[in-house]
Amino acid sequence: MIYPDYRPRRLRRNENLRSLVRETVLTPAQLIYPLFVMPGKNKREEISSMPGVFRLSVDQLAKEAKECRKLGVNHVILFGLPEKKDRVGSGAHATDGIIQRAIKELKNKAPELTVSTDVCLCEYTSHGHCGIIHEGMVDNDATVEVLARTALSHAKAGADIVAPSDMMDGRVGEIRAALDEHNFDQVAIMSYAVKYASAFYGPFRDAADCAPQEGDRRGYQMDPANAREALREATLDVEEGADILMVKPGMPYLDIIRLLRDEFDHPIAAYQVSGEYAMLKAAAINGWLDEERVMAESLLSLRRAGADMILTYFAKQMAKLL
Ligand code: PBG
Ligand code: ZN
Repeated sequence: MIYPDYRPRRLRRNENLRSLVRETVLTPAQLIYPLFVMPGKNKREEISSMPGVFRLSVDQLAKEAKECRKLGVNHVILFGLPEKKDRVGSGAHATDGIIQRAIKELKNKAPELTVSTDVCLCEYTSHGHCGIIHEGMVDNDATVEVLARTALSHAKAGADIVAPSDMMDGRVGEIRAALDEHNFDQVAIMSYAVKYASAFYGPFRDAADCAPQEGDRRGYQMDPANAREALREATLDVEEGADILMVKPGMPYLDIIRLLRDEFDHPIAAYQVSGEYAMLKAAAINGWLDEERVMAESLLSLRRAGADMILTYFAKQMAKLL
C-alpha cells in the first residue's frame, strides 16, 4: 500500500473544516419567489401539481410579501391570471390589469420588496400562445410591439424589473427603447435569454392557465438539443440592453448556465421551473427522497454551475433553512 501525501479527506473531517473550504454559498438574498396573482378577494388556491404553491388574490399579497421579507427573500416575480382573455392579449397591458394592480399593491404595502414581472402574452391570449397570431403563425414583430407596451405598463405601475419570457426576436431592444422613452431608465430587464421549449413547464401551465390550445411553443422557444445557439441568443440580448440573463429550465441545463457564466460578465439567473419543483416534491411526498436535502442540493448546484440568482418555488422553504 502506497500512502498518498495529499489526502483530500483531511479537510472533510468536520463541518468547520468543510465550511472553511466550501466554494459555493447560497443565501436567501439570491432567491426570487414566483407569485401567481388571480382575480377575486380572499383567494388562496393551492395548485394541484405544485403542492405548497398558491394562487393569490391581490388583497393577499401584502401578507405574502411580509412573510418573504421576514425570511430574507427580498425579491418576487409576478405572474397574472386575468379575468378574461382575447386573441391579442389585451389584458397584459391594461392599466387596471391583474399584474398592474398587484404591483401597485406590493409597492404600497411592501415597498422594500423588489418586484419583477413576467412579460408575456400567453396568460392573456385565448389561444394560449405567447404572441399575436397571424395566418396560423406567431407574428414576431406585431408581438414585440405589444410586449413593449406591456413592459411599459408594468413600469408605470412601479415594477423594478421586467422579465420578458416570450422568446420573440428583438423584444429586449424594443422594451428598452419604450422604457427609456418614458423615463424609466432605471427599470431593469431580466431577459429570459435562453429559454428552451421544455416539457418541464407542465405544472406552470396548469397554474397560470396558459397552455397553447393548438400546437406547441417550439416555433419560438429554443430546441433542447442546442447549446451554441444559447450564445447567440444571449449575445443578442446583451447587445439590446439586457441587464440580467436568464437560463430556463435549471437542472437539465446546468451546462448552459456554465457556458454563459464563462462567456459573459452579466449577472446570470437560473429558473428552477415548475416541473423541477413538482418532481422533487412528488418524490419527497412519496418518501423516496429527503425533501430538504434535495431542495438544498438542487439549488446549490445551480449556484455552482454559475447562476448568481435563482427563481424558485422553494424560495421561502429554502430561506427558512438558511
Ligand atoms: C410564460 C412563462 C412560462 C414559464 C414562465 N413564463 C411558461 C411557458 O413558457 O410555457 C414557465 C415557468 C415554470 O414552469 O415554472 N411564457
Ligand atoms: Zn408565454
